[in-house]
Amino acid sequence: MEKNIKFPVVDLSKLNGEERDQTMALINDACENWGFFEIVNHGLPYDLLDNVEKMTKEHYKKSMEQKFNDMLKSKGLENLEREVEDVDWESTFYLRHLPQSNLHDIPDMSDEYRTAMKDFAKRLENLAEDLLDLLCENLGLEKGYLKKVFHGTKGPTFGTKVSNYPSCPKPEMIKGLRAHTDAGGIILLFQDDKVSGLQLLKDGDWIDVPPLNHSIVINLGDQLEVITNGKYKSVMHRVVTQEEGNRMSIASFYNPGSDAEIAPASSLAGKESEYPSFVFDDYMKLYAGVKFQPKEPRFEAMKNGSAVADLNPTAAVETF
Ligand code: OGA
Ligand code: NI
Repeated sequence: MEKNIKFPVVDLSKLNGEERDQTMALINDACENWGFFEIVNHGLPYDLLDNVEKMTKEHYKKSMEQKFNDMLKSKGLENLEREVEDVDWESTFYLRHLPQSNLHDIPDMSDEYRTAMKDFAKRLENLAEDLLDLLCENLGLEKGYLKKVFHGTKGPTFGTKVSNYPSCPKPEMIKGLRAHTDAGGIILLFQDDKVSGLQLLKDGDWIDVPPLNHSIVINLGDQLEVITNGKYKSVMHRVVTQEEGNRMSIASFYNPGSDAEIAPASSLAGKESEYPSFVFDDYMKLYAGVKFQPKEPRFEAMKNGSAVADLNPTAAVETF
């Protein structure tokens, strides 16, 4: 597909040289028109990434695969005779880092895996904060503005969703993860270097986010759309299943703290802002029931509390 070729890949090392302006412009264009970009030369050591990928795959085999197969059995998904639209073909577990780590409460992780995930998360946290400052620069906001908004009284929420998308005998019958926009701030995804599956919606077409060894995929959540008053967009994405190969992905969500007050930045808001202002946790409570619905009614509902019931929340899903 010709369209894949244009997917924005940003070499962060170029920020230190002559091509800084073009690189900043590429990031800005990606934030305005894709909601996604992929970064290389981001400073995370490749041996750490390789180790995290290897241990995540081993952990799946040892501690998650059986549970996934049991889930298929209990939900009657072994034969997939018709399209399934209310379940995702994924195996996941969640790590929280901020405001408090739960890394030591997760069962079945080796000490080695725990240590690697702690190091990985700390580096991604720093990278997320650096990226937020690059966004501030492109948006004409003072350095530290987004970090400060996300801080609330307890600091940001930062967590990691570790996923495996096992091979699926009938990919056309079920998605690995149904289409959604992410609720939070900025998301950093380390994905399988071989098995693809992530797609984003651009101008009505689903476009593959290609695996690229040692890269990190960045995307923007609903909060950045609100704070930028729509200059930047959170974009619908999904994971398709594959007949061959188990896909690993590790998505880290750098989000506002639960009591952070979210509103369009005054320098980006016109006289009348189209976007609501709210406390982040209230948005998350709404999102948990309507994650797989379009974001626009969520924004409307946050403007007008009485509209929440009209969104037909389904059972709450676990989210960041
Ligand atoms: C998510 C997500 C994509 C992936 O968890 O919100 O979009 O590739 N994940 O796992
Ligand atoms: Ni997502």
